[in-house]
Amino acid sequence: MKITVIGSGYVGLVTGACLASLGHQVICADTDAGKIGLLASGKVPLFEEGLEPLVKEALTDGRIRFTTELAWSIEESDILFITVGTPSLPDGEADLTQLWSVVNLIAKSGGGRKLLVIKSTVPVGTCDSVEDLLRHGIARSRIIDVAHNPEFLRQGNAVRDFLLPDRIVVGCKTEEARTIMSDLYAGIASPVHHCDRRSAELIKYGSNAFLAMKISFINMMANLSDELGVDVDEVSAGIGADRRIGPHFLQSGIGYGGSCFPKDMKAIQALGKSVGCELPLIEAAERINGKQPQFIVGKLKHSLQTMRGSRIALLGLTFKPMTDDIREAPSLTVCRMCLAEGAIVHAYDPMIRQYPMQEVVLHGDAYSAIDGCDAIVLLTEWDEFRLLDWGRVRKAVRNGLIVDGRNMLSHSGMRSVCEQYGMTYLSVGRPAIDRYGLTSPGVIPQYLRNTRVK
Ligand code: UGA
Repeated sequence: MKITVIGSGYVGLVTGACLASLGHQVICADTDAGKIGLLASGKVPLFEEGLEPLVKEALTDGRIRFTTELAWSIEESDILFITVGTPSLPDGEADLTQLWSVVNLIAKSGGGRKLLVIKSTVPVGTCDSVEDLLRHGIARSRIIDVAHNPEFLRQGNAVRDFLLPDRIVVGCKTEEARTIMSDLYAGIASPVHHCDRRSAELIKYGSNAFLAMKISFINMMANLSDELGVDVDEVSAGIGADRRIGPHFLQSGIGYGGSCFPKDMKAIQALGKSVGCELPLIEAAERINGKQPQFIVGKLKHSLQTMRGSRIALLGLTFKPMTDDIREAPSLTVCRMCLAEGAIVHAYDPMIRQYPMQEVVLHGDAYSAIDGCDAIVLLTEWDEFRLLDWGRVRKAVRNGLIVDGRNMLSHSGMRSVCEQYGMTYLSVGRPAIDRYGLTSPGVIPQYLRNTRVK
């Protein structure tokens, strides 16, 4: 099939490269000439595991092309995917500016009959509005359907998520579009969930909201575990073993970030507001998430007595491992809070060479970041932090204090480390470990106790 993917961000590139790997002829179009130039030479301008080899292979086999000529790329293909960004507007609503500019171009374009597939995350009713615009324009007889085919791609895992998904969701109106979409994905052995377009649009928001809610639920349980002297990891494993609940997205820590969950949680609330429907679970999940960094910084402050003049080493800045993305990363909030308390912040992340806060001193490796610091705060669960040489760490960290904002280190393992090297280990919803390897209920500073999540 001849496919054009408009928008070469991580969703567009993964979609284009994976569809090419399934044997389709793909054109990836974007207005960014620099990006397209790089891609045409086989270089992927973003960090996504497995993507570059796929692009190179498709280029060699002549199954993928890159262009800035949007109008040409629209005319060339039978299936048009829109994968442009839909960021948040100040009121939380999704900004559809990029989507509309592409749709307007399609409305004016020539060529044969086409199926338009919106992959971008869009509010319920967007496909209907796009169809209205196209049906009233010159594209009228040439549009087979406007389908919605939401993406469920995790950054860092996106190629695998595309080729081995739990399900493929396709919302469309016509039988012809349904058949085309089934043929398009025939190479993927996962069930296709066919539904109407509005349901497909809401499935995407509902999926992200539910996952975000699971994270906030376990973080709420972590705070309760801290108060009760319980280990939240045990609680999470026990709850998640129930197949009706499942073990995924029950990892407690500093909260979710990234370019998707925070944006989509806002967008679904805006959607609810637009029809006068309250979404209290979503609101609570968002509030809990916003509060989570306070618990981490609170524990740090409580243990150091004062943050003023203390040197804090942050390990990990990206919103999760296997990405170079710091958008809405919890590290940004933690940095801001530490700086506001008068701390001196040093940091290291294997993927970050520039950080938006000038005051943060970036280092090229973990040992140089922690040298002479008063405490370490782990904020992204990069594997290399699990392999730190604790003897070396102890010599570098004055107070021997480690705050694990991701519960990434084994609790029992850290008991031995603390006992052997005289270190203190605090995490989220798990008992604190002192320098003798003894545990006590997780420390929650008094001022954070019983504070209602506002
Ligand atoms: C998320 C969804 O998982 C994808 O299905 C969706 O397609 C994508 O958003 C999107 O809408 O484009 P992503 O933002 O890449 O993907 O990352 P996730 O792996 O979902 O993690 C999001 C955040 O939650 C990260 O900050 C991560 O550290 C945090 N998280 C995740 C937890 O704190 N605990 C968990 O148990 C899982």
